[in-house]
Amino acid sequence: MLEGKVVLVTGAGGGIGRDFALAMAAAGAKVLVNDLGTSVKGEGASGGPAQQVVEQIRAAGGAAAASTDSVADWASANRIVQAALDSFGRIDAVVNNAGILRDRFFFNMSVEEWRSVIDVHLNGSFYVARAAAPHFKAQESGCYVHMTSTSGLVGNLGQANYAAAKLGIVGLSKSIALDMAKYRVRSNCIAPFAWSRMVGSIPTETPDQQARVEKLKSMQTAKIAPLAVYLASEAAREVSGQIFGVRANEIFLFSQNRPLRSVHRDGGWTPETVASHAMLALRAHFYALDRTQDVFSWDPL
Ligand code: NAI
Repeated sequence: MLEGKVVLVTGAGGGIGRDFALAMAAAGAKVLVNDLGTSVKGEGASGGPAQQVVEQIRAAGGAAAASTDSVADWASANRIVQAALDSFGRIDAVVNNAGILRDRFFFNMSVEEWRSVIDVHLNGSFYVARAAAPHFKAQESGCYVHMTSTSGLVGNLGQANYAAAKLGIVGLSKSIALDMAKYRVRSNCIAPFAWSRMVGSIPTETPDQQARVEKLKSMQTAKIAPLAVYLASEAAREVSGQIFGVRANEIFLFSQNRPLRSVHRDGGWTPETVASHAMLALRAHFYALDRTQDVFSWDPL
């Protein structure tokens, strides 16, 4: 489905990203395998993971090149896109997948923990997408796939930085879809569920957390890739501005925020009538303080 296309996958040295790179190559794409080779927390760097995936693709007869620059900086994000152009002469799809975790309850979260997660996920997704945009605009084609998370879409404990970044990515994706539709450029999000080292770092101190992680263990990273390959292909030319989820053999389409219910009062509101009228009417539609496992309460299929 991707013959002749050049696909850039960030964070492709391991986990979900490695399976994206392998599946894109198997579908005929030339793949720029970007990975900083860092820890789950974003500490340290190594060229090994990206190079190993490149070798795996080449051994299977595919075409790939490695990039070890960080997504979390404007200059290095430009070098990542340039590496795809230098290696393969064009760029057709960007998969914003690189990520780190610095979980901490909100009341204890440091500015550094907040900033580093926003830098890699939200700023990194913007930098890499923005660096590719002039090429997509000039050729009047292109596609973005961004990784979001139910941590942002639904909620999880101890992930204020990550949830904010991942919901920010949803807004970024929608804005790209709107701004670049006239250049036939598409942008979509995937919220994956898969057992990777990142999920292995989720704290398992409470029975709730233990139950969540046990379920995640049964979900393979390779199960996310078919949807990403499809989204990068011409078969998805009508698909933009959407939020999908993949969990083992299930694919979800997520809702997007729209007014749910409204109340109106002639002559306007006072704080007292907000309490005695508006909230009584709206309360029946309030959302519970759900976390991901409350909404995805059944076992993966
Ligand atoms: P992972 O930790 O296995 O892979 C992330 C990769 O990103 C690593 O190879 C790492 O070296 C690379 N990376 C980190 N910072 C980087 C930077 N600044 N520049 C370039 N590369 C960098 O994690 P996993 O689970 O494969 O996650 C992939 C994506 O999916 C992430 O965006 C994550 O937030 C998202 N996700 C994963 C879920 C899951 O269930 N595994 C759930 C929801 C979202």
